Amino acid sequence: MAELLPFPLVPWLLLTCFSPFFVHSMESSTSSCSSSNISIPYPFGVYGQSPSPAEGFEITCGSSGPMLPIGNNSISILNISLLDGYVTILASAASRSRHCGGDFASFSLEGTSFTFSDTRNKLTAVGCNMVAMLLNGTSDYSGGCASFCSTSNSIVDGACSGVACCQAPVPKGLKKLSLNFTNINASLSKYTLACAEAFIVEQNSYAFAAAYLKVLNNSNNSPPQYRPVVLEWSIDGGSCEEANRSASYACKENSYCYSSSNGIGYRCNCTEGFLGNPYLQGPGGFQVCVFQL
Ligand SMILES: *[C@@H]1O[C@H](CO)[C@@H](O)[C@H](O)[C@H]1NC(C)=O
Ligand SMILES: *[C@@H]1O[C@H](CO)[C@@H](O)[C@H](O)[C@H]1NC(C)=O
Ligand SMILES: *[C@@H]1O[C@H](CO)[C@@H](O)[C@H](O)[C@H]1NC(C)=O
Ligand SMILES: *[C@@H]1O[C@H](CO)[C@@H](O)[C@H](O)[C@H]1NC(C)=O
Ligand SMILES: *[C@@H]1O[C@H](CO)[C@@H](O)[C@H](O)[C@H]1NC(C)=O
Ligand SMILES: *[C@@H]1O[C@H](CO)[C@@H](O)[C@H](O)[C@H]1NC(C)=O
Ligand SMILES: *[C@@H]1O[C@H](CO)[C@@H](O)[C@H](O)[C@H]1NC(C)=O
Ligand SMILES: *[C@@H]1O[C@H](CO)[C@@H](O)[C@H](O)[C@H]1NC(C)=O
Ligand SMILES: *[C@@H]1O[C@H](CO)[C@@H](O)[C@H](O)[C@H]1NC(C)=O
Repeated sequence: MAELLPFPLVPWLLLTCFSPFFVHSMESSTSSCSSSNISIPYPFGVYGQSPSPAEGFEITCGSSGPMLPIGNNSISILNISLLDGYVTILASAASRSRHCGGDFASFSLEGTSFTFSDTRNKLTAVGCNMVAMLLNGTSDYSGGCASFCSTSNSIVDGACSGVACCQAPVPKGLKKLSLNFTNINASLSKYTLACAEAFIVEQNSYAFAAAYLKVLNNSNNSPPQYRPVVLEWSIDGGSCEEANRSASYACKENSYCYSSSNGIGYRCNCTEGFLGNPYLQGPGGFQVCVFQL
């Protein structure tokens, strides 16, 4: 007992010399929607709550939880990571081949602070005897894959390696899903399908199911599928060196800046030994990256 006593005193002493507002500022560094327990860390925020969102990071509250406004749509948020800089959404980031009822307006993140994560998603295509090509703009080819189906026995649930399902990496910095499908005549491929679909999906949450081919074959009636998609976010203010000189530099005290891996903007992290929200300056000018023992 006697040995344990001095321990709690040490953090208490440190806290008092750092900030009497410590507990308060930690509490107010996230917002939330009453309909869910997903925490919304600053720079994200909900209008009317404290702290107010930074520009481009406004979240709205829907009946099932936080929503991300993108273009004219509101998209469900599954979670937000503050220090790794990603948001997982539930979306139909998909396109179907021509004449397949789909032809969904291509999913675009242009004009937002987000890109499709190249490290946590896969471009996935489902179909037979086709090549799905990802286009950048109207004609630049920037990735894709091919899928063939020889017999129904060759199509296996859970496998996505070129038989009825194929996957390719998502290019870095991708903001818009624009796809083109080309049919390929293959003599080995007897099994055909009227439609093909390609989409971006969180790589660990997708498992191909052969039953989906029947849904897809009848896609005039099949509704869009919503799947987890990981977006990366960053502060749009140029490189760390450029941002560092600007009045709107987002990295506060006891933090450092690093370039985001998608090549757009920068992010902040607390200096080693400190924990908290590097984007926030606490009340009274106290820092929110707080020293940890
Ligand atoms: C959110 O709530 C659900 C159910 O109420 C619970 O299962 C889940 O663990 C909670 N998540 C967090 C991060 O608290
Ligand atoms: C949003 O909706 C308006 C009005 O319906 C439309 O004119 C505009 O093109 C839409 N914007 C996008 C990005 O879809
Ligand atoms: C975020 O949500 C995705 C999809 O539900 C899940 O795979 C992932 O583990 C979640 N991450 C965290 C940090 O909760
Ligand atoms: C798409 O094209 C733009 C402009 O030409 C270029 O800056 C960008 O790097 C390209 N993106 C990919 C993923 O190829
Ligand atoms: C898309 O594919 C069709 C054939 O399916 C082809 O005619 C068209 O030129 C392609 N478009 C682009 C931009 O590659
Ligand atoms: C594919 O094969 C069919 C029948 O064998 C033929 O009519 C068609 O022209 C071929 N298409 C292409 C693009 O080679
Ligand atoms: C797809 O539909 C076509 C025409 O309705 C049919 O002949 C074919 O067997 C169907 N394929 C599958 C996999 O359901
Ligand atoms: C900007 O960068 C310089 C050198 O890397 C550093 O000394 C300085 O503290 C930075 N300024 C801010 C506001 O972080
Ligand atoms: C942020 O800092 C923590 C603690 O120093 C470190 O463990 C973590 O890897 C850093 N994250 C990134 C994305 O740099």
